[in-house]
Amino acid sequence: MNRVCQILGITKPVVQAPMLWITSPELVAAVSNAGGLGVLGFNAGTDVRRDTAEETAADMRAAIRRTKELTDKPFGIDIVPASADAAGFSTGIVDIMREEGVKTMVLAGESFQESDVVPFKEEGFTIIARQLNPSIRDSKQLEAWGVDIIVATGCDEGGCMPCGSTGTMMQVALLADAVEIPVLAAGGIINEEFARASAILGAEGAFAGTRFILSKECRAAEATKRNLLETPQDDFVIFTQWGGTSKWRSTPNSVVLAAVEANKAGNLDPAQGSYYESELKGNLDAGVNSGNSVTSLIRSIDSCADIVADLARGYE
Ligand SMILES: Cc1cc2nc3c(=O)[nH]c(=O)nc-3n(C[C@H](O)[C@H](O)[C@H](O)COP(=O)(O)O)c2cc1C
Repeated sequence: MNRVCQILGITKPVVQAPMLWITSPELVAAVSNAGGLGVLGFNAGTDVRRDTAEETAADMRAAIRRTKELTDKPFGIDIVPASADAAGFSTGIVDIMREEGVKTMVLAGESFQESDVVPFKEEGFTIIARQLNPSIRDSKQLEAWGVDIIVATGCDEGGCMPCGSTGTMMQVALLADAVEIPVLAAGGIINEEFARASAILGAEGAFAGTRFILSKECRAAEATKRNLLETPQDDFVIFTQWGGTSKWRSTPNSVVLAAVEANKAGNLDPAQGSYYESELKGNLDAGVNSGNSVTSLIRSIDSCADIVADLARGYE
């Protein structure tokens, strides 16, 4: 049992990365039952888009309770740092974590403040820190504040990618060298071979998103899954958003192609369409279908148990 397993109370060092709506209780519980750590994302398991902190918190309570019905193993919850969350989404969710006894949080964001970390550590939470744009400096600071595990996210990842040019394997090597606490590899960890490559460079576990979209238990639409499986790496399209602070990689569809055109015109803030419509409902031209570039190497849609076991072999 390695350090990641000891810290998280799991048997296989595989964390399912949070992905908004598609990380439903069924997916999270399947990963946790397989020995990994499932993580509920914002809007977990709901069928509607929530606008208020109160509604989101109420949904999260229902998602936590449903997850507990499906597993008695540990699972985590994704939150953004309170310092970057004026609307109070995180605060409401953390209150519910306390009430429901969920002790592991994935803290996802950047420009973390001491107050985003230290009070939670003093309270006994386990913290996996996922910097959107990881740096050695910030990783050392997070370690000094007491974070338990650092995610080394490279620009290879699916979803909202780091804006820098450092890929997953480089990021793993850099951060594992910089901190004493365990590092998880995020970005393109889709099978045992990628997991083992990251382990050689210092990762002690995987933080995998895209691979779990292509699982039997993931609630993403079949059309969405097939689209990821059938898109070769050179067909993925990258565009920027939010004033250029965020990058996305998506399969080609009308929203994404429009975003690329908007980028050329200097507009770095195009609407990205709706993940909800594309990933959950399978209406690919209504939004973004994001994944890493190696989805064409994923041969089949497998159970979470098989995926967790496959990735974990890379860290043995
Ligand atoms: C469709 C999709 C949605 C995502 N949504 C979130 C999210 O809501 N919050 C978050 O912190 N990260 C999100 N991510 C990033 C993942 O948590 C994780 O860092 C990434 O998936 C790891 O790279 P991989 O997809 O290559 O395995 C998302 C990723 C994908 C592919």
